[in-house]
Amino acid sequence: MGVALDFREVDVADFEELLDKYEPGDASRLIPFLQDVQEIYGYLPGQFMERIAKHLRIPKNQVFGVATFYAQFSLKPRGKNVIKVCTGTSCHVRGSKNVLEVMEKALEIKAGDTTPDLNFTLETVACLGTCFLSPVMMINDKYYGKLTPHKTEEILKEYQNNIKNES
Ligand code: FES
Repeated sequence: MGVALDFREVDVADFEELLDKYEPGDASRLIPFLQDVQEIYGYLPGQFMERIAKHLRIPKNQVFGVATFYAQFSLKPRGKNVIKVCTGTSCHVRGSKNVLEVMEKALEIKAGDTTPDLNFTLETVACLGTCFLSPVMMINDKYYGKLTPHKTEEILKEYQNNIKNES
């Protein structure tokens, strides 16, 4: 399933408050402004980009340029849990493809996407720096190594159960 997220869940009131915090025309405040938006919404909703540009009186493509240049910013919604499956050489030869397949199938999304309920974002990375644990993945700030398809499924289930228990 692809990601069909829209902005229904974006509370515009928070953004309006931010506009008051930043002086109109102060282009030097673009990065802190974007950081604040990202902090509130977890990503940079596209609908705000033009308003930020107008407010700070800078071209819209400059706002997008900065938003896409820095890795800290995301233009797509991200899930509560971010899964990073390593597909670097060491992990690749030890079966990272299977790990990724298990995740894509179980979450019904492709790498780079977020589940529609915003619980999970699935990403691939080139190396997590823990090749001795290959194949490895990270969920949020936790590492999981020596993964098999079964182990991967079990770990994901734990997270899914935790989410169920929280709701
Ligand atoms: S290649 Fe996967 S951790 Fe280094």
